Amino acid sequence: MFAFTDDISYAQQADARDPLKHFREQFYFPRRPDGSDAIYFCGNSLGLQPKEVVNAIDTELTTWRNLAVGGYFGGTNPWLRYHEYCTPALARIMGCKATEVTVMNALTVNLHLLMLSFYRPTNTRYKVIMEAGAFPSDQYAVETLVKHAGFDPEQAIIEISPREGEKLLRTEDILTQIELAGDSLAMVMFGGINYYTGQLFNIQAITAKAHACGAIAGFDLAHVAGNVPMQLHDWQVDFAVWCSYKYLNAGPGAIGGAFVHEKHAIHPGSEGGGVMMNKPALKWKRDSFPKPKQVDGI
Ligand SMILES: Cc1ncc(COP(=O)(O)O)c(C=O)c1O
Repeated sequence: MFAFTDDISYAQQADARDPLKHFREQFYFPRRPDGSDAIYFCGNSLGLQPKEVVNAIDTELTTWRNLAVGGYFGGTNPWLRYHEYCTPALARIMGCKATEVTVMNALTVNLHLLMLSFYRPTNTRYKVIMEAGAFPSDQYAVETLVKHAGFDPEQAIIEISPREGEKLLRTEDILTQIELAGDSLAMVMFGGINYYTGQLFNIQAITAKAHACGAIAGFDLAHVAGNVPMQLHDWQVDFAVWCSYKYLNAGPGAIGGAFVHEKHAIHPGSEGGGVMMNKPALKWKRDSFPKPKQVDGI
């Protein structure tokens, strides 16, 4: 390490020593009026365009042009298996098994789908804990979830705020609130990194505490995916969702990601059936209820 100084030469030295610096060449940068590359600090909102993306899209357009429906089974990347091309890399990024992760829909759609699957409230256990100041669509999603189940959001949602005069949440306060909610708590639905403050939460500790109370632990990892290493499997996180247009540089409107821990795949629920949840050999059979992909392979 070399000593930090608040000047351009420090920044240049840090750039020169960065083992990942060659990746910079693989992206397009917006230009400043003088024609130089802008300094881009908005990857938390939309990642830069990889230079390869135009070729990747052209490959798929060519397959579509030449093969039409045959592109599902032929061409460079047969579309029927498109999600499987992404799962090994996503499994490394999110710290899970390839069978626990997939790409589908957009973040908020996935959040609704997974919360609807995991939120199983009773008259006494129905509360949801989230961070105050979560991304607005997460707030709406949780609010509509509890209303959908017949609860009053005022009663059912516990929002955790920083202490008076502080901007960030203390982990000890999050854990205390979870413990206080105790057996009234059905689910913790937290951000992994708060979109506004940039605070990285202790996902492992939050998950362990939620489980100790008998609650489900789910996370919105929009600002985590491709930014901070995760160990979702080992941490026993129940579910997580994220988008791929921020630090994964997939472009506006790109498909989202979802994780469900394998312990839930072994005991599948009864909701949301479709052919893509079936084992490949059974995919198009119409005579039985979907048999989910098991942990022994896809
Ligand atoms: C933390 C967080 N959650 C959710 C979303 C919304 O995701 P989408 O509109 O793609 O569903 C965003 C978008 O920026 C976000 O930053």
